[in-house]
Amino acid sequence: MDYLADTANIDEIRDLFHYFPMEGVTTNPTILSHENKPLSKIIPEIQKCIEGKMLHLQTISEKAEDILKEAKRYSDYFQFKENYYAKIPVTKEGYRAIRLVKEAGMKVTATAIFTQQQALIAAKAGADFVAPYVNRLDNISSHGIDVVADIVKAFRLHGLQCKVLGASFKNVDQIYRVSMVGCHAVTASYEVLKAIMMHPMTDKGVMDFERDGANLYDIYLQNHTNRDLLNS
Ligand code: E4P
Repeated sequence: MDYLADTANIDEIRDLFHYFPMEGVTTNPTILSHENKPLSKIIPEIQKCIEGKMLHLQTISEKAEDILKEAKRYSDYFQFKENYYAKIPVTKEGYRAIRLVKEAGMKVTATAIFTQQQALIAAKAGADFVAPYVNRLDNISSHGIDVVADIVKAFRLHGLQCKVLGASFKNVDQIYRVSMVGCHAVTASYEVLKAIMMHPMTDKGVMDFERDGANLYDIYLQNHTNRDLLNS
């Protein structure tokens, strides 16, 4: 399963890509609004940090033809290569736009997916990824994990190449569960990604190892005397 960062914050993206095996960044207008920078500034900054990994940039036009123009504009303006995905919400116009954008040679992530049928139709229209919103489903007493599982199963049953990019996560358990039903990729906030990668017992274990090994690793440690823990 691939991990993507659902953020446009440069410090967060830099940190995640420096330390972890990240495969891309997803944005939407709400995420971008937190950074208070126009696309012309923020996208080149993101591109620099992700070095050719996937960049999913959401369109805001309503009509299919306008969505196509918008996706093309970004592709030309930012000189996007293969890593660019036009992120298109699955409105009525959106489904048509998916087909048009694909015919124009660009990749598509169908977003704002809440049902298995929306995902299946987006995939039939040519989407490369579909993004079901797990936590938003859970919040309306639906079942985000089940929807993801149904989509994964339907794509397999019908031989569709489209992948599932689970989105809208608020906790570790949601990501664990979608990974166990075959979700191909997840995109999550900095906080949730850190939470899935870290564990306090790991930190405690490492501190114990450092203390116990303090006087034993002479070959390496003789040149590294500034570690507080060694003398604790
Ligand atoms: C991702 O592609 C979606 O835009 C995003 O995950 C939505 O997440 P939210 O429900 O936390 O806003």
